[in-house]
Amino acid sequence: MTTTILVTGGCGFIGSNFIHHLHAVRNSWKVVCVDALTYAGNLGNLDEIRSWENFTFERASIADRGAMDEVFSAHKIDYVVNFAAETHVDRSIEDATNFILTNVGGTQVLLDSERAHGVKRHLQVGTDEVYGSLGVAGFFVETMSLHPNSPYAASKASADLLCLAAHHTHAQDVVITRCSNNYGPYQFPEKMIPLMLRNALSDKQLPVYGDGMNVRDWLYVEDHLKAILLVLEKGRAGEVYNVGGHNEWHNIDLVKHILNELGKPESLIKFVEDRKGHDLRYAIDPEKIASELGWKPETMFPEGIKKTIKWYSDNQKWLDDVTSGDYLEYYNKMYKVDSDGTVTR
Ligand SMILES: NC(=O)c1ccc[n+]([C@@H]2O[C@H](COP(=O)([O-])OP(=O)(O)OC[C@H]3O[C@@H](n4cnc5c(N)ncnc54)[C@H](O)[C@@H]3O)[C@@H](O)[C@H]2O)c1
Repeated sequence: MTTTILVTGGCGFIGSNFIHHLHAVRNSWKVVCVDALTYAGNLGNLDEIRSWENFTFERASIADRGAMDEVFSAHKIDYVVNFAAETHVDRSIEDATNFILTNVGGTQVLLDSERAHGVKRHLQVGTDEVYGSLGVAGFFVETMSLHPNSPYAASKASADLLCLAAHHTHAQDVVITRCSNNYGPYQFPEKMIPLMLRNALSDKQLPVYGDGMNVRDWLYVEDHLKAILLVLEKGRAGEVYNVGGHNEWHNIDLVKHILNELGKPESLIKFVEDRKGHDLRYAIDPEKIASELGWKPETMFPEGIKKTIKWYSDNQKWLDDVTSGDYLEYYNKMYKVDSDGTVTR
Protein backbone atom coordinates (compact mmCIF):
# COMPACT_ATOMS: atom_id res chain seq x y z
CA MET A 1 0.00 0.00 0.00
CA THR A 2 1.34 3.40 -0.97
CA THR A 3 1.76 5.89 1.86
CA THR A 4 0.09 9.26 1.28
CA ILE A 5 1.26 12.26 3.27
CA LEU A 6 -0.30 15.70 3.55
CA VAL A 7 2.28 18.44 4.02
CA THR A 8 0.68 21.73 5.07
CA GLY A 9 2.63 24.94 4.55
CA GLY A 10 4.73 23.12 1.95
CA CYS A 11 5.47 26.32 0.02
CA GLY A 12 7.26 27.95 2.96
CA PHE A 13 10.86 27.56 4.08
CA ILE A 14 10.95 24.28 6.02
CA GLY A 15 7.88 22.74 4.35
CA SER A 16 9.33 23.11 0.84
CA ASN A 17 12.68 21.69 1.97
CA PHE A 18 10.73 18.77 3.51
CA ILE A 19 8.97 18.05 0.20
CA HIS A 20 12.34 18.11 -1.62
CA HIS A 21 13.60 15.68 1.05
CA LEU A 22 10.61 13.33 0.58
CA HIS A 23 11.20 13.40 -3.18
CA ALA A 24 14.75 12.23 -2.50
CA VAL A 25 14.20 9.65 0.25
CA ARG A 26 10.51 8.53 0.05
CA ASN A 27 10.03 8.72 -3.70
CA SER A 28 7.23 6.15 -3.79
CA TRP A 29 5.06 8.13 -1.35
CA LYS A 30 2.22 10.30 -2.60
CA VAL A 31 2.63 13.87 -1.40
CA VAL A 32 -0.25 16.32 -1.15
CA CYS A 33 0.78 19.88 -0.34
CA VAL A 34 -1.79 22.29 1.08
CA ASP A 35 -0.73 25.92 1.31
CA ALA A 36 -2.71 29.16 1.47
CA LEU A 37 0.15 30.97 -0.33
CA THR A 38 0.40 33.87 2.11
CA TYR A 39 3.26 36.37 1.64
CA ALA A 40 5.59 33.66 3.03
CA GLY A 41 4.44 30.92 0.66
CA ASN A 42 6.10 30.60 -2.71
CA LEU A 43 5.15 27.92 -5.24
CA GLY A 44 8.49 28.66 -6.93
CA ASN A 45 10.15 26.81 -4.02
CA LEU A 46 8.67 23.62 -5.52
CA ASP A 47 9.48 24.27 -9.20
CA GLU A 48 11.60 21.10 -9.47
CA ILE A 49 8.93 19.04 -7.71
CA ARG A 50 5.86 19.97 -9.66
CA SER A 51 6.57 17.48 -12.46
CA TRP A 52 6.84 14.61 -9.91
CA GLU A 53 3.91 12.30 -10.70
CA ASN A 54 3.32 11.61 -6.97
CA PHE A 55 2.92 15.31 -6.13
CA THR A 56 -0.34 17.26 -5.86
CA PHE A 57 -0.79 20.88 -4.81
CA GLU A 58 -4.00 22.27 -3.30
CA ARG A 59 -4.30 25.96 -2.46
CA ALA A 60 -6.36 26.15 0.74
CA SER A 61 -6.24 27.43 4.29
CA ILE A 62 -5.88 24.90 7.08
CA ALA A 63 -8.35 27.04 9.01
CA ASP A 64 -11.10 26.31 6.45
CA ARG A 65 -12.87 23.16 7.65
CA GLY A 66 -14.85 22.70 4.41
CA ALA A 67 -11.73 22.95 2.27
CA MET A 68 -9.79 20.58 4.52
CA ASP A 69 -12.64 18.02 4.52
CA GLU A 70 -12.55 18.15 0.71
CA VAL A 71 -8.79 17.51 0.69
CA PHE A 72 -9.14 14.54 3.08
CA SER A 73 -12.05 13.16 1.04
CA ALA A 74 -10.18 13.50 -2.26
CA HIS A 75 -6.96 11.83 -1.03
CA LYS A 76 -6.69 8.91 1.37
CA ILE A 77 -4.19 10.58 3.71
CA ASP A 78 -2.12 8.45 6.11
CA TYR A 79 0.08 11.12 7.69
CA VAL A 80 -0.20 14.87 8.18
CA VAL A 81 2.85 17.03 8.87
CA ASN A 82 1.65 20.48 9.86
CA PHE A 83 4.12 23.21 8.95
CA ALA A 84 1.44 25.76 8.00
CA ALA A 85 1.70 28.76 10.29
CA GLU A 86 2.25 32.45 10.61
CA THR A 87 5.86 32.41 11.75
CA HIS A 88 7.41 35.84 12.18
CA VAL A 89 7.61 37.08 15.79
CA ASP A 90 7.86 40.74 14.72
CA ARG A 91 4.65 40.47 12.71
CA SER A 92 2.87 38.82 15.66
CA ILE A 93 3.84 41.80 17.81
CA GLU A 94 2.29 44.17 15.23
CA ASP A 95 -0.94 42.13 14.82
CA ALA A 96 -1.53 38.61 16.12
CA THR A 97 -4.92 38.00 14.46
CA ASN A 98 -3.70 35.67 11.71
CA PHE A 99 -1.46 33.85 14.19
CA ILE A 100 -4.53 32.84 16.18
CA LEU A 101 -6.60 31.99 13.10
CA THR A 102 -3.96 29.79 11.46
CA ASN A 103 -1.69 28.52 14.22
CA VAL A 104 -4.42 27.84 16.78
CA GLY A 105 -7.66 27.58 14.76
CA GLY A 106 -6.02 25.87 11.79
CA THR A 107 -4.40 23.21 13.96
CA GLN A 108 -7.73 22.36 15.59
CA VAL A 109 -9.47 22.20 12.19
CA LEU A 110 -6.80 19.79 10.97
CA LEU A 111 -7.08 17.57 14.06
CA ASP A 112 -10.89 17.41 13.77
CA SER A 113 -10.88 16.75 10.03
CA GLU A 114 -8.14 14.12 10.40
CA ARG A 115 -10.19 12.21 12.98
CA ALA A 116 -13.24 12.31 10.73
CA HIS A 117 -11.21 10.86 7.86
CA GLY A 118 -9.16 8.19 9.60
CA VAL A 119 -5.72 9.81 9.34
CA LYS A 120 -3.17 7.60 11.10
CA ARG A 121 -0.83 10.22 12.57
CA HIS A 122 -0.50 14.01 12.95
CA LEU A 123 2.96 15.50 13.37
CA GLN A 124 2.90 19.04 14.72
CA VAL A 125 5.98 21.04 13.78
CA GLY A 126 6.60 23.06 16.91
CA THR A 127 9.18 25.50 18.14
CA ASP A 128 11.45 25.82 21.18
CA GLU A 129 10.09 29.36 21.63
CA VAL A 130 7.14 27.85 23.55
CA TYR A 131 9.47 27.29 26.53
CA GLY A 132 10.16 31.02 26.92
CA SER A 133 13.57 32.49 27.60
CA LEU A 134 16.62 30.95 29.30
CA GLY A 135 19.18 32.79 31.38
CA VAL A 136 22.86 32.34 30.62
CA ALA A 137 22.81 28.65 31.67
CA GLY A 138 20.59 25.60 31.16
CA PHE A 139 18.74 23.99 28.26
CA PHE A 140 15.14 23.40 27.19
CA VAL A 141 13.89 19.89 28.00
CA GLU A 142 10.52 18.44 26.98
CA THR A 143 9.21 18.20 30.55
CA MET A 144 9.55 21.93 31.23
CA SER A 145 6.38 23.95 31.62
CA LEU A 146 5.59 26.31 28.77
CA HIS A 147 6.19 30.07 29.14
CA PRO A 148 5.70 31.54 25.66
CA ASN A 149 6.53 35.24 25.61
CA SER A 150 5.56 36.50 22.15
CA PRO A 151 2.13 36.22 20.52
CA TYR A 152 3.76 33.89 17.96
CA ALA A 153 5.15 31.60 20.67
CA ALA A 154 1.82 31.68 22.57
CA SER A 155 -0.06 30.63 19.43
CA LYS A 156 2.41 27.77 18.83
CA ALA A 157 2.14 26.66 22.47
CA SER A 158 -1.66 26.64 22.12
CA ALA A 159 -1.37 24.46 19.02
CA ASP A 160 0.88 21.98 20.86
CA LEU A 161 -1.61 21.82 23.73
CA LEU A 162 -4.52 21.22 21.36
CA CYS A 163 -2.58 18.31 19.82
CA LEU A 164 -1.87 16.81 23.25
CA ALA A 165 -5.53 17.31 24.22
CA ALA A 166 -6.63 15.44 21.06
CA HIS A 167 -4.31 12.59 22.04
CA HIS A 168 -5.62 12.49 25.60
CA THR A 169 -9.30 12.96 24.81
CA HIS A 170 -9.72 11.10 21.52
CA ALA A 171 -6.68 8.78 21.64
CA GLN A 172 -5.65 10.54 18.41
CA ASP A 173 -2.12 9.64 17.31
CA VAL A 174 -0.13 12.88 17.48
CA VAL A 175 3.56 13.59 17.84
CA ILE A 176 5.20 16.98 18.33
CA THR A 177 8.66 18.21 17.42
CA ARG A 178 10.08 21.39 18.96
CA CYS A 179 13.05 22.66 17.02
CA SER A 180 15.47 25.51 17.51
CA ASN A 181 16.10 28.17 14.82
CA ASN A 182 16.63 26.75 11.34
CA TYR A 183 18.74 28.13 8.52
CA GLY A 184 19.24 27.04 4.92
CA PRO A 185 17.83 27.52 1.39
CA TYR A 186 14.38 29.00 0.65
CA GLN A 187 14.04 30.93 3.93
CA PHE A 188 12.05 34.12 3.53
CA PRO A 189 14.44 37.06 4.03
CA GLU A 190 12.52 38.71 6.86
CA LYS A 191 14.23 36.09 9.09
CA MET A 192 17.66 36.84 10.49
CA ILE A 193 20.15 34.84 8.42
CA PRO A 194 18.71 35.46 4.92
CA LEU A 195 18.01 39.09 5.87
CA MET A 196 21.65 39.62 6.84
CA LEU A 197 22.90 37.74 3.79
CA ARG A 198 20.71 39.69 1.41
CA ASN A 199 21.75 43.04 2.86
CA ALA A 200 25.42 42.12 3.01
CA LEU A 201 25.39 40.85 -0.58
CA SER A 202 24.08 44.24 -1.72
CA ASP A 203 26.24 46.31 0.69
CA LYS A 204 23.20 47.51 2.66
CA GLN A 205 23.17 48.05 6.44
CA LEU A 206 22.61 44.98 8.65
CA PRO A 207 20.06 45.84 11.39
CA VAL A 208 20.91 44.10 14.69
CA TYR A 209 18.41 44.27 17.56
CA GLY A 210 19.51 45.83 20.88
CA ASP A 211 23.11 45.07 21.84
CA GLY A 212 23.21 41.90 19.71
CA MET A 213 23.80 39.70 22.78
CA ASN A 214 20.63 37.57 22.43
CA VAL A 215 21.48 33.92 21.88
CA ARG A 216 19.88 31.56 19.37
CA ASP A 217 20.63 27.89 18.74
CA TRP A 218 20.97 27.29 14.96
CA LEU A 219 20.26 24.04 13.11
CA TYR A 220 20.75 23.36 9.39
CA VAL A 221 17.29 22.77 7.93
CA GLU A 222 18.15 19.33 6.49
CA ASP A 223 18.89 18.01 9.98
CA HIS A 224 15.45 19.21 11.08
CA LEU A 225 13.79 17.41 8.12
CA LYS A 226 15.51 14.16 9.06
CA ALA A 227 14.32 14.53 12.64
CA ILE A 228 10.74 15.15 11.50
CA LEU A 229 10.70 12.04 9.29
CA LEU A 230 12.19 9.96 12.09
CA VAL A 231 9.61 11.14 14.62
CA LEU A 232 6.82 10.64 12.08
CA GLU A 233 7.85 7.05 11.44
CA LYS A 234 9.22 5.98 14.82
CA GLY A 235 8.19 8.48 17.51
CA ARG A 236 5.85 7.41 20.31
CA ALA A 237 2.28 8.72 20.12
CA GLY A 238 1.56 11.64 22.43
CA GLU A 239 5.25 12.48 22.87
CA VAL A 240 7.19 15.70 22.35
CA TYR A 241 10.71 15.61 20.87
CA ASN A 242 13.11 18.55 21.08
CA VAL A 243 15.35 19.02 18.04
CA GLY A 244 18.58 21.00 18.19
CA GLY A 245 22.29 20.65 17.67
CA HIS A 246 24.02 22.55 20.52
CA ASN A 247 25.01 25.41 18.25
CA GLU A 248 24.50 28.62 20.19
CA TRP A 249 25.46 32.01 18.79
CA HIS A 250 25.14 35.56 20.07
CA ASN A 251 23.33 37.39 17.26
CA ILE A 252 26.19 39.85 16.87
CA ASP A 253 28.80 37.10 16.51
CA LEU A 254 26.69 35.37 13.87
CA VAL A 255 26.34 38.59 11.88
CA LYS A 256 30.10 39.18 12.08
CA HIS A 257 30.71 35.60 10.95
CA ILE A 258 28.47 36.12 7.89
CA LEU A 259 30.23 39.38 7.00
CA ASN A 260 33.58 37.66 7.39
CA GLU A 261 32.54 34.77 5.12
CA LEU A 262 31.43 37.27 2.47
CA GLY A 263 34.50 39.48 2.85
CA LYS A 264 32.32 42.48 3.81
CA PRO A 265 33.18 45.13 6.46
CA GLU A 266 31.72 45.11 9.99
CA SER A 267 30.91 48.79 9.47
CA LEU A 268 27.74 47.57 7.70
CA ILE A 269 26.34 46.58 11.13
CA LYS A 270 23.68 48.95 12.44
CA PHE A 271 22.34 48.43 15.98
CA VAL A 272 18.60 49.19 16.08
CA GLU A 273 15.96 49.50 18.81
CA ASP A 274 15.41 46.11 20.45
CA ARG A 275 12.42 43.89 19.67
CA LYS A 276 9.69 44.27 22.33
CA GLY A 277 9.93 41.48 24.93
CA HIS A 278 13.00 40.03 23.16
CA ASP A 279 13.81 36.59 24.67
CA LEU A 280 17.43 36.47 25.83
CA ARG A 281 18.47 32.92 25.06
CA TYR A 282 17.17 29.71 23.50
CA ALA A 283 19.10 26.44 23.74
CA ILE A 284 17.83 22.92 23.15
CA ASP A 285 18.69 19.70 24.94
CA PRO A 286 18.19 17.05 22.21
CA GLU A 287 18.98 14.07 24.48
CA LYS A 288 15.53 12.45 24.13
CA ILE A 289 15.47 12.26 20.31
CA ALA A 290 19.14 11.22 20.32
CA SER A 291 18.79 8.35 22.80
CA GLU A 292 15.31 7.17 21.79
CA LEU A 293 15.44 7.54 18.00
CA GLY A 294 19.16 7.83 17.26
CA TRP A 295 18.93 11.31 15.70
CA LYS A 296 21.95 13.58 15.65
CA PRO A 297 22.81 16.65 13.58
CA GLU A 298 24.99 15.88 10.56
CA THR A 299 25.75 19.32 9.13
CA MET A 300 28.05 21.33 11.36
CA PHE A 301 27.66 25.11 11.32
CA PRO A 302 30.79 26.09 9.34
CA GLU A 303 29.70 23.80 6.49
CA GLY A 304 25.97 24.64 6.77
CA ILE A 305 26.51 28.39 6.65
CA LYS A 306 28.85 28.06 3.64
CA LYS A 307 26.20 26.04 1.78
CA THR A 308 23.54 28.60 2.75
CA ILE A 309 25.64 31.57 1.62
CA LYS A 310 26.33 29.83 -1.69
CA TRP A 311 22.62 29.09 -2.20
CA TYR A 312 21.57 32.72 -1.65
CA SER A 313 24.44 34.00 -3.81
CA ASP A 314 23.46 31.59 -6.61
CA ASN A 315 19.75 32.35 -6.29
CA GLN A 316 19.70 36.12 -6.51
CA LYS A 317 16.61 36.00 -8.74
CA TRP A 318 14.69 34.04 -6.09
CA LEU A 319 15.69 36.67 -3.52
CA ASP A 320 14.67 39.54 -5.79
CA ASP A 321 11.33 37.91 -6.61
CA VAL A 322 10.33 37.23 -2.99
CA THR A 323 11.46 40.63 -1.74
CA SER A 324 9.62 42.78 -4.25
CA GLY A 325 6.21 44.35 -3.52
CA ASP A 326 4.69 43.71 -0.10
CA TYR A 327 7.93 42.61 1.54
CA LEU A 328 9.76 45.79 0.60
CA GLU A 329 7.01 47.90 2.10
CA TYR A 330 7.12 45.81 5.32
CA TYR A 331 10.92 46.00 5.59
CA ASN A 332 11.04 49.76 5.07
CA LYS A 333 8.37 50.25 7.74
CA MET A 334 9.91 47.84 10.31
CA TYR A 335 13.41 49.29 10.09
CA LYS A 336 12.44 52.88 9.17
CA VAL A 337 14.57 52.90 6.04
CA ASP A 338 15.35 56.26 4.35
CA SER A 339 15.12 56.73 0.59
CA ASP A 340 18.95 56.31 0.43
CA GLY A 341 18.71 52.90 2.20
CA THR A 342 19.86 54.07 5.66
CA VAL A 343 18.25 52.27 8.62
CA THR A 344 17.04 54.91 11.11
CA ARG A 345 15.05 52.86 13.63
N1 LIG B 1 11.91 28.66 10.82
C1 LIG B 1 12.31 28.17 11.99
O1 LIG B 1 13.44 28.42 12.42
C2 LIG B 1 11.39 27.27 12.78
C3 LIG B 1 11.89 26.63 13.93
C4 LIG B 1 11.06 25.77 14.64
C5 LIG B 1 9.76 25.56 14.20
N2 LIG B 1 9.28 26.21 13.10
C6 LIG B 1 7.91 25.92 12.67
O2 LIG B 1 8.00 25.27 11.41
C7 LIG B 1 6.88 25.60 10.61
C8 LIG B 1 7.34 26.13 9.28
O3 LIG B 1 8.14 27.30 9.50
P1 LIG B 1 8.78 28.10 8.28
O4 LIG B 1 9.92 28.86 8.81
O5 LIG B 1 8.96 27.20 7.12
O6 LIG B 1 7.58 29.12 7.96
P2 LIG B 1 7.28 29.99 6.68
O7 LIG B 1 6.69 31.27 7.18
O8 LIG B 1 8.46 30.06 5.77
O9 LIG B 1 6.15 29.16 5.91
C9 LIG B 1 4.84 29.03 6.38
C10 LIG B 1 3.99 28.47 5.26
O10 LIG B 1 2.65 28.29 5.76
C11 LIG B 1 1.74 28.80 4.80
N3 LIG B 1 0.50 29.20 5.50
C12 LIG B 1 0.34 30.25 6.35
N4 LIG B 1 -0.95 30.29 6.77
C13 LIG B 1 -1.59 29.22 6.21
C14 LIG B 1 -2.90 28.71 6.27
N5 LIG B 1 -3.86 29.31 7.00
N6 LIG B 1 -3.19 27.59 5.57
C15 LIG B 1 -2.27 26.98 4.81
N7 LIG B 1 -0.99 27.44 4.69
C16 LIG B 1 -0.66 28.54 5.38
C17 LIG B 1 2.46 29.97 4.14
O11 LIG B 1 1.88 30.29 2.87
C18 LIG B 1 3.88 29.40 4.05
O12 LIG B 1 4.04 28.67 2.85
C19 LIG B 1 6.04 26.59 11.41
O13 LIG B 1 5.00 25.90 12.03
C20 LIG B 1 7.02 27.13 12.45
O14 LIG B 1 6.37 27.52 13.63
C21 LIG B 1 10.07 27.04 12.39
